[in-house]
Amino acid sequence: MSSKLIAPSMLAADFGNLQRDTEMVNTSDADWFHIDVMDGHFVPNISYGMPVIAAIKKHATKPLDVHLMIEKPERYIEEFAKVGADIITVHHESTVHLHRTLRQIKDAGCKAGIVLNITTPVSVLEDILPECYMVLLMSINPGFGGQKFEEVTYQRIKKLRKMIDEQGLDTKIEIDGGVTDQNIQKLVEAGADVFVAGSHVFKSENPTQTIANLKSLANS
Ligand code: DX5
Ligand code: ZN
Repeated sequence: MSSKLIAPSMLAADFGNLQRDTEMVNTSDADWFHIDVMDGHFVPNISYGMPVIAAIKKHATKPLDVHLMIEKPERYIEEFAKVGADIITVHHESTVHLHRTLRQIKDAGCKAGIVLNITTPVSVLEDILPECYMVLLMSINPGFGGQKFEEVTYQRIKKLRKMIDEQGLDTKIEIDGGVTDQNIQKLVEAGADVFVAGSHVFKSENPTQTIANLKSLANS
């Protein structure tokens, strides 16, 4: 079984100490940086954009996993690639021409993934799955960190895992929202591969240790 990955969400980092928090992730057991981009339209919150991503990229030694919570993400794919995105995920609910957008992400040199809100059935992915490096299943309503994990996520992971296996693919399943040391093992059992954790990591007393703990729980 391939190793399970941890992606701390920089939304919960201290923006006044971005270099320090980026270096903490570099030296920790984390695998990727999770970067949440919000536009105030697709979700009711505004986070950060290209300049902040470029600032993280300057110090990051691990891949940037950029989660776009913006309307019509196709308008900005090349710019996100230019500032250092390695993986770009776009919401199924945010664009009409999803297939074209995935191709655009790959043409820009990045790995491409689709994000589903909690109420979007995983079955919508059936035909597009072979185009996806990863599928991100939201386990909260997108827009804010620190929310409570939604239990319906477990059955959604199982359905998606079945679909991926039936098609003989190695598409990764990423879970985002309310991930902690209390639910990560159950999420692994359901079939998930990558775990975003924001407040659980950055609000803890020792973020490096918290990441190490998540990594070891996910891989035990
Ligand atoms: C929310 C974001 C998440 C968020 C997760 O829309 O997509 O990545 O940072 O935060 P926690 O881990 O605190 O739920
Ligand atoms: Zn996210």
